[in-house]
Amino acid sequence: MTNPREHSSAVAHMFGGIARFYDLLNRILSIGLDQYWRKELARNVLPGEKGLVLDLAAGTLDVSLAIRHRFPQTTVLAFDFCLPMLRLGRPKLRGDNKKMILPVAADALSLPLADCSVDCITIAFGIRNILPRHQAFREMLRVLRPGGRACILEFGSGRERIWGGLYNLYLNRVLPGIGAFFSKDKEAYQYLSRTICAFPEAPVLEKEMQEAGFVRTGFSKLTSGIVCLHLGEKPV
Ligand SMILES: C[S@@+](CC[C@H](N)C(=O)[O-])C[C@H]1O[C@@H](n2cnc3c(N)ncnc32)[C@H](O)[C@@H]1O
Repeated sequence: MTNPREHSSAVAHMFGGIARFYDLLNRILSIGLDQYWRKELARNVLPGEKGLVLDLAAGTLDVSLAIRHRFPQTTVLAFDFCLPMLRLGRPKLRGDNKKMILPVAADALSLPLADCSVDCITIAFGIRNILPRHQAFREMLRVLRPGGRACILEFGSGRERIWGGLYNLYLNRVLPGIGAFFSKDKEAYQYLSRTICAFPEAPVLEKEMQEAGFVRTGFSKLTSGIVCLHLGEKPV
């Protein structure tokens, strides 16, 4: 079994290495669909009364920006443990976003926040990288206010055949090659395919969320299930 601490430091190191290519490769590899997926995630945010949203694994801040675009009254805490990713996101913050999006170096497994302090949590393409997942769910539930919502955007399990297997061929053969060509990091984009294939199918992840204590859970598949949006709430 992987040691969680070693896993976290390997993940932070890997994202640090590819950070400067990250946005460009997202657009290329998803043919621009990544921003649509983030918009869908933001549309499902429940800002609550205080409008304090925690964007976990915030990376280069595209989700935080999508949330502020959809809900301009919100304040977004943008947490990620990889500083180079957050630093590359900073120049994207203009006008009110400079004050209302707060990038913080923090680990999703041990959040520097009080219990019941945030209205909503988002995490996009982050949960797949976090081990153990149940600890991340526990932390989310701890800091969410009762009735607060978690919105989890992640790739579906790459084991599911999509578009007659065309997507699977793309995921396993084409994507790692394009990623390696641009980023010069072969391992990082093999890691992407590998972790997508190892990731649980949506009903299994939903069950894990329920076991962790989320209620009113549900998921919707985006782009034929290439990506899934999971929702769950903290009991009132
Ligand atoms: C694939 S990127 C997603 C970034 C962003 N959410 C987006 O939509 O582009 C995954 C991010 O998760 C972060 N991450 C992974 N594990 C984490 C953890 N335990 N705590 C905080 N951030 C973590 C990585 O540093 C990386 O920036």
